[in-house]
Amino acid sequence: MGERMMRAVEIGEPGGPEVLRAVTRPVPEPGHGEVLIRVAYAGVNRPDALQRAGAYAPPPGASDLPGLEAAGEIAAVGPGVAGLSEGDRVCALLPGGGYADYAVTPAAHCLLVPAGMGLDAAACLPETVFTVWSNVFMRGGLEAGERFLVHGGSSGIGTTAIQLARAFGARVFATAGSEEKCAACLRLGAERAIDYRAEDFVEVLKSEGGANVILDMVGGDYIARNLKALAEEGRLVQIAFLQGPKAEINFAPLMMKRQTITGSTLRPQSDLAKARIAEGLRAHVWPLIEAGRIAPVMDSEFALEEAAAAHARMESSAHIGKIVLRAAGG
Ligand SMILES: NC(=O)c1ccc[n+]([C@@H]2O[C@H](COP(=O)([O-])OP(=O)(O)OC[C@H]3O[C@@H](n4cnc5c(N)ncnc54)[C@H](OP(=O)(O)O)[C@@H]3O)[C@@H](O)[C@H]2O)c1
Repeated sequence: MGERMMRAVEIGEPGGPEVLRAVTRPVPEPGHGEVLIRVAYAGVNRPDALQRAGAYAPPPGASDLPGLEAAGEIAAVGPGVAGLSEGDRVCALLPGGGYADYAVTPAAHCLLVPAGMGLDAAACLPETVFTVWSNVFMRGGLEAGERFLVHGGSSGIGTTAIQLARAFGARVFATAGSEEKCAACLRLGAERAIDYRAEDFVEVLKSEGGANVILDMVGGDYIARNLKALAEEGRLVQIAFLQGPKAEINFAPLMMKRQTITGSTLRPQSDLAKARIAEGLRAHVWPLIEAGRIAPVMDSEFALEEAAAAHARMESSAHIGKIVLRAAGG
């Protein structure tokens, strides 16, 4: 019998959205502890664009295809998998390979699709909830009543961070690049949205007593400004550097105000570390989603073959929330 084939989108060579091309690839096989997902929808994330540009290589052993999250039905289970079976509807964090009709991932990185949620919305969950839960709560230690500032509040990450922080009782401040994006942040539960083109977030936060936790993806001159906007004992959590990773900083106030700078990226972490984040999500976040208190914000949907157009939209920064690709099961 010949190999089963599927549609996929690969990165022809490092470059702009146009290097994404539709191809046919063998359907992958689930290894020990892994499942094969028939992808209905795959989420599109900034790190995919970085990978496409040649700046974010897949970790060893991961698929070379882009795509860090997907939702669909389990099509096969590998040896040693307990608790999941064929036909289960899951959304999952992937090591790569989401831009395809089928993808494999460790069973421990799958979460059951919340009751009543469509697979398109479910595909928007994993990358942002894993990132926000691990960085804002596990790493940043955000607590109820604290002031939380998220930059890029209308991004996929930002829209999730606002809702989660609000649901856990924090006071939420968000920056975004337009009036429309600020309005979206307010609708999601931010008490104050700051249009960074018109206002200085440092002044706004200082007038409130400073931020206890800041989630930043901008970097560059935001690094020094974030430290000024942080309260005593404040935690700055860095998840990307859209404006560059270098800055000249006076660290003396950090010592006087007992502040912490930290950060992480999800993808290179061990399977076990990701499984632990998934456990936290099942226990603390899934009940909020099932209760309808948190829902992904969806911007747009593209066919799998239109991945280049999806990337162009994301890189135009015109979007609010998440972009998904529709695959075989969608
Ligand atoms: N560390 C991790 O594990 C991890 C995981 C996932 C994502 N990330 C990072 O988190 C960020 C958000 O990801 P996403 O998928 O949610 O992307 P996204 O929806 O495209 O969000 C990026 C946002 O950043 C703002 N932005 C873009 N370029 C900027 C620039 N040069 N300076 C300032 N702001 C800029 C845009 O909003 P405005 O129009 O308001 O500027 C945009 O909404 C990305 O940088 C991504 O690489 C990190």
